[in-house]
Parts: sequence; structure tokens; C-alpha cells
Amino acid sequence: SDRLLLRGRLLTFNSEPQTPDDTSAFDYIEDGALLIEDGMILKRGTYCDVVAEAGCADIVDHRPNLLMAGFIDTHIHFPQVQIVASWGAQLLDWLNTYTFPEETRFASEDHAAAMACRFFDLLTNHGTTTAVAYCSVHKASAEAYFEEAEQRNMRMIGGKVLMDRNAPDGLRDTPQTGYDDTKALITKWHGKGRASYAITPRFAITSTPAQMEMAGALVAEHADCFVQTHLSENKNEIAYTLELYPEALDYLDVYQSYGLLSEKMLLGHSIHLEPREIDALAETGARPVFCPTSNLFLGSGLFDDAGLKARGITNAIATDIGAGTSYSMLQTLNEGYKILQLQDQKLHPFRAFHWITRGNAVALGMEDRIGTLDEGTEADIVVLNARATEAMALRMERAETLAEELFVLQMLGDDRSIDEVYVAGKAQKGKAPEIAAQAGG
Ligand code: GUN
Ligand code: FE
Repeated sequence: SDRLLLRGRLLTFNSEPQTPDDTSAFDYIEDGALLIEDGMILKRGTYCDVVAEAGCADIVDHRPNLLMAGFIDTHIHFPQVQIVASWGAQLLDWLNTYTFPEETRFASEDHAAAMACRFFDLLTNHGTTTAVAYCSVHKASAEAYFEEAEQRNMRMIGGKVLMDRNAPDGLRDTPQTGYDDTKALITKWHGKGRASYAITPRFAITSTPAQMEMAGALVAEHADCFVQTHLSENKNEIAYTLELYPEALDYLDVYQSYGLLSEKMLLGHSIHLEPREIDALAETGARPVFCPTSNLFLGSGLFDDAGLKARGITNAIATDIGAGTSYSMLQTLNEGYKILQLQDQKLHPFRAFHWITRGNAVALGMEDRIGTLDEGTEADIVVLNARATEAMALRMERAETLAEELFVLQMLGDDRSIDEVYVAGKAQKGKAPEIAAQAGG
């Protein structure tokens, strides 16, 4: 049949948990089930209730594992898959030494297509079912990215980077070609199937004022597209930006003065912010994106989660591969926990798992589609095993609560804890237990 019933322990969030024991923020069902049809969640409830309405659905029994919404990675670089863990540099040297030379290889359609396949395998194997990606400057890299996403029926967001200066030959567009290529990609892909486009000026340093103006025109003409860039990641980056844009009040004002800021905008890093910049984020609704493994790897600095939240700013969290060091949103939470510890802030497990699911969906304005197990949303689901390694299993012998189990996953989990992933209701890993039974008959 084309109906699928997944049995397991269900956890889904309704809102952001404000305290470690804010149980009103989530629904947990110990013996739960999801009924899936046509890629959507048709029904959620106890196994007994759901199986009674399942018709002749195939049943897959994932007990004792946890079923949650698939993870969402809100900032990742597709053309950086082969430079993860490149030694020794901070941001600007890292870009010039490793990143830019690597991205020139994505001029080749064949290379981009081959890497897209590997990239999407990595995402799903780590439990990520939606990502917001930077492609390279080459239109072909974005074509390869969206084609691969379409084949897998994944809800993916991305865009070719706009960059017309301070980058090597073969890695620069012009204001006009950047505009034209972006326009063509939006026309072809934005809203096609599960794809959305993100207009992507890489960052202020690699775009001339003329290109920023074109980016502003694209944003004005396509208000329903996302916009993504980098902000205040590194102190040398900030100083150079202010040299290049001497009229700007501060780094964020470069983007603000070209009309880029709105709730559709994702600002990677947003670490070293001035009070005016924080005011502007609060006023415009632009979303800072916390990239913990990247911020530690490049020595960039400590993201002030509590400070931004106190201003009512909606944050997202992401891997930032290839400056980030793990595709796993669980490992991202692990490092994020430690970054907040250094500032006497806490990332408790309910907040953490809300963040990488519904929280990131809210940051994207997509919580009606992804990030929860709510009926009527898309069946992107991850199956989590908190006993995936010996160290985890041993720790779990002493874990008594759901919060403890989640914290074990948050600190010790990685791709080994992802038992199965469903994208629009289709199992991706092939690790799902055999169809256990059929409901109804
Ligand atoms: N700033 C501009 N480009 C990049 C990039 O590719 N990675 C990171 N971490 N920061 C950037
Ligand atoms: Fe980045």
C-alpha cells in the first residue's frame, strides 16, 4: 500500500521551551505512531489510536528509538565538502588558502554533479532533511544542487554566491552576470517542487557596491526568496569591511543600506555585534545564525545567544561546513553547548532539539511545513538511537528521564545515532527494520 505507519517514541515541539522542564512546549508519546501518505503526516497519536485508522498501511516498528522531525541546517557550503578540516588558518587566510581555490573546481558541471550526490548523502546520513546552502559562484553549481535535491524530493534552499572582487580568477562574476544568473535560477527553481532560492551575496568583502546594489534589486524583485550572507564573524574581516565601505555605520549597515534586511534574511555568525546592529536585527527580523563548530575551528569568537534572545531576535543554528567540522546537527549542539558554557549561558536539551527542528523552521518561516511531526506537515523524520555507541549505551544505563536521553544524544550523538531518515515519507538509509506487519489487512 502507499500508506506507511511508523511506530516509535514520538517527540515534537509546539514552541520554544523556556526552561529545562517546560513540558508544555512539546508533545511526547511513549508508544506513538505516525501515519504517512503522499509524503505527508496524515495522523499522529498513540499507536492504538493511529493503527485503528491506518487502513492497510505497512507498519515499521522503530521502538525503542525516538522519532523526531528531520534536522534543519540553516547555513552550509556545498562546494566545501572536500576542504573540511583544513589546517591552521583563521577566516580570511582560510578563505584565500583553501576555500577559494577549492570553489573554482565547481565551474565543472560534472564535478558539481558528482559532489552534489555525495553532499546529499552526507546530509541525510546525518539526519538533516533540509539545508540552506551556499553554492559556488558558478551557475552550474546551483543547477547541480537543485537537480540533486529534486531527485531526492528534499526541501532544500540555496543559491549561487554573488562575488565580484577580492577573489581569484575563475571565481568572480560581475554585477550584471550575477544578477542575470540569479534571476534565471530563481525563475527555474524557486517554488519548483520543494526548492526555494536564497539570494546569496557571499559577504561584503567579495562584493563591490555595484554588486550590492544589484543584490538589493534582486531582493526587491523577489521578496519571497531567502537572502543569506555572512556578518561579523572575525575581527579582521570587520575591519576590512569598514575600509571597503567607509560610509557604512557598521558592518550590518552595508547590507541594510542596500535593502537586504528582512525576516527572510539569514546572517551567518553574527558574533561581534555593535549595539546599533543588534537594534537593527531586532527591528528588521533578520536572523543571526549560530555556527558553533565553525566558530571554534576558525577561532572566530563566542555567539551571544542569550543577549540576542533577550532582544526578541529569532536565532538559527547551523554547521557551516566546510569551516564547520561536522555535518551532524547533534555535534553542532554539542559544541554549541560548550560555547554557551563559556559565557555562563545554558543550552538545555529541550531547547537544543527544538532549535535544530522547529526552531530553525521558524527562522525560515516554514514551521507549517517542516520541523514538527504535526498532522498536515511534510513527512521528513529522523529516527534517533541514544544507545548507538558503547559509550552512549553505558551512559544510558544510568539515564532515567527523557531530558537525560536527549542530552546524551546532544553531547555524544552523531551520524551513528541516526538509525533511519525519512524524506517525504521515503526511507533514505535502508536501515529501517523490515516491514513488521500490516494494519487492517
Ligand atoms: N565568509 C565569507 N565566506 C565564508 C565561508 O565560505 N565560510 C565562512 N565560515 N565564512 C565566510
Ligand atoms: Fe559560512
